[in-house]
Amino acid sequence: MNIINVSNRLPITIKGEDITPSSGGLVAALEGLPKDQYSTKWIGWPGSTISDTAHERDIEKKLVDELGCIPVFLSEAEIAAYYEGFSNSTIWPVLHYLADYLRYEPSWWENYLSVNQRFADTVLKHAKEGDLVWVHDYQLMLVPSLIKSAAPELRVGFFLHTPFPVYEVFRCNPKSKHLIVGMLGADQIGFHTVNYLRQFANVTQRTLGLEPELTRIRNEEHTSALGVYPIGINAPKFEATLDSSEFKNRVQELRAVHDNKRIILSVERMDYTKGILHRLDAVDYFLSRLQSTDDLRFVFVSVPSREGVEEYRVLTEEVEARVGRLNGKYSTLRNNPIHFIHGSVDFTDLCAMYAIADIGLVTPLIDGMNLVAKEFIACQRENEGMLVLSEFAGAAEELWQALLVNPYDSASLAETLKSALAMTQQERSARNREMRERVMKYDARHWARSFVEDLQSGSQFAVASPQNALGEIRERLLEVYSQKKHAAIFLDYDGTLREIEREPKLASPTPELTAFFKRLSRQEQCEVTVVSGRSMEDLEQWVGGYPFGLVAEHGARWRPAKAGQWEDLDEGLEYAWKQDILRILRLYQEATPGTFIEEKRSSVVWHFRTANEDFGEWKAYRLAEELAALTANDLIRVRRGKKIVEVCAAQVSKGAAVAKILAGMKSYDFALCAGDDQTDETMFQLSIPKLWSIKVGSGSSSAKFRVANPAALRQLLDLLAQ
Ligand code: UDP
Ligand code: G6P
Repeated sequence: MNIINVSNRLPITIKGEDITPSSGGLVAALEGLPKDQYSTKWIGWPGSTISDTAHERDIEKKLVDELGCIPVFLSEAEIAAYYEGFSNSTIWPVLHYLADYLRYEPSWWENYLSVNQRFADTVLKHAKEGDLVWVHDYQLMLVPSLIKSAAPELRVGFFLHTPFPVYEVFRCNPKSKHLIVGMLGADQIGFHTVNYLRQFANVTQRTLGLEPELTRIRNEEHTSALGVYPIGINAPKFEATLDSSEFKNRVQELRAVHDNKRIILSVERMDYTKGILHRLDAVDYFLSRLQSTDDLRFVFVSVPSREGVEEYRVLTEEVEARVGRLNGKYSTLRNNPIHFIHGSVDFTDLCAMYAIADIGLVTPLIDGMNLVAKEFIACQRENEGMLVLSEFAGAAEELWQALLVNPYDSASLAETLKSALAMTQQERSARNREMRERVMKYDARHWARSFVEDLQSGSQFAVASPQNALGEIRERLLEVYSQKKHAAIFLDYDGTLREIEREPKLASPTPELTAFFKRLSRQEQCEVTVVSGRSMEDLEQWVGGYPFGLVAEHGARWRPAKAGQWEDLDEGLEYAWKQDILRILRLYQEATPGTFIEEKRSSVVWHFRTANEDFGEWKAYRLAEELAALTANDLIRVRRGKKIVEVCAAQVSKGAAVAKILAGMKSYDFALCAGDDQTDETMFQLSIPKLWSIKVGSGSSSAKFRVANPAALRQLLDLLAQ
């Protein structure tokens, strides 16, 4: 199987005529996939501007032939607008909760769109049927849907390497909705932590009105599976380096260079998310109050990053000035306390520094994962340096034996540093052993394998959820209509026949629905029953004028077609429990503004459609949980419907009503039920011969078929009128 890996940067460095492959985590990850099963191509920006087209063609040839890389060239204007602009000044800050840093210009968005389109076109040009496409990170959020709309058969994965923030922050990005829709083009969407996944799901709910499930989101006809895949390091490369004699030499050399002082090491890109200034505050606090400097040294490796972006330039200046001031303040004849490198270091040197450091001080204000933390642990094979890690790095979820700190609290950071330096060898060793085992086992290869396997096998969702192929139902309906066969049709009202309204009382039939009811009435051989949770009055008022049967209150009452009288389907049932439940619902109503209670014959309902959406969902979850614990008996059942929590008599259900009505019918050639929410599942779960089921809208269901919305259902039932 061929994997087309798509990332903003290709894993290469171009210097003049020289092209050298680099070996970061992503490269290692893909190299780790079994060679007999997968081959990889890489699409991305070569990382520098190339001035003439002839040179572009040379580079392209070299890249394709020698490295399996397909370049997407960017002009200087595109780098400024797409990369430095929209990607790194409009999206990056928001993904990292730093909306104050957000800057936006409409032309940046246009460039982001066109560059994403170019990436998608490049994929489409090179992908063959059956290939897996794996798109990476925030620079390419639109690429999944651009690919999917042109080639729905390609399986597309998307992995976000950064955090995903809460809705209130994400929406600050002026194009947030487009970005979400872009990501939802993917079949598989991966995040580093469950929290990022949960927040993404919540954002889809609040921006697009989707109803995410635990591990998937259905948007119209397309389902995106969601998963958590914490990225790891290139473990074999670290192990091999630690084994090398070169590494051992460097360790000795660097120990001598640093005069055998105790080393506190920080390594990162020069980025405002990394908490460098806050860390310098902690260094100041530490040196002024906790420990003198002669026998210890802070080493900061700050790799230059995104220097075309104003905020990064300002940060660099500020860091350099602060380091200068602190060194001035705390230097002695025997030591400069901060050894600051604004540059990158060679890999073996980096490993040697990790290894000789007494403390790895990794304190981003927020970070999707933070590989430096894992790399530091990987290098504690013989030495027992201690990791002090920000609780706001994704890595903290796995490396909980590290000393976790709040990077904003400089005093406490300094105190933690002091206790880390004082920690016994035995304790450091115990903590590191567990962390190292984990880091070396769940490495970059494991990460890639898990994602790719899920992407490849993701089609399981299509099997488990209702199919969209309605051809069979259409044929049956045509047979019924044209050959005058006898059909029994059971249709829910809200969300199934009629689009949902914000307030239930507004959902009277539209002129279009009225016309549809009239046409359906003329199909005399179809016995139509509207099966609803609504009251008898609502149904009589809106549907009572047609020759349809009516089932009200989720199956408690029935008015057969052509009969004026309602019958009880709940004869002999006790409803004394309603008073106790109502008392609880009233507490929730009072505590959740905008909600109200509806009392029905066989059930009581708490509606939160008009409350604050998030608060309402949260309270509904609590209420359902509380009620489920309270009502563990056979008499009543708690249901979560659309924006409602309902407590009803257990023996009363739409399914039970449909079963009873069908059992009383003389004969029928075809039966069909359709519904959109949880209460309709009782109909879908009936196992009755000749009964077909259709789920309307998104969400998991036991129905056999699915249509996207009420209009699609009406269109299906309307075959003859067409
Ligand atoms: N790194 C590097 N050159 C250096 C120092 C560090 O390439 O001089 C690497 C480091 O080994 C790590 C990566 O940069 O793999 C930083 O990844 P991380 O996840 O910590 O942060 P990001 O830069 O992705 O925000
Ligand atoms: C973060 C992002 C990556 C990006 C890297 C380096 O890790 O998630 O997508 O490649 O930083 O940033 P740069 O702008 O130099 O590519």
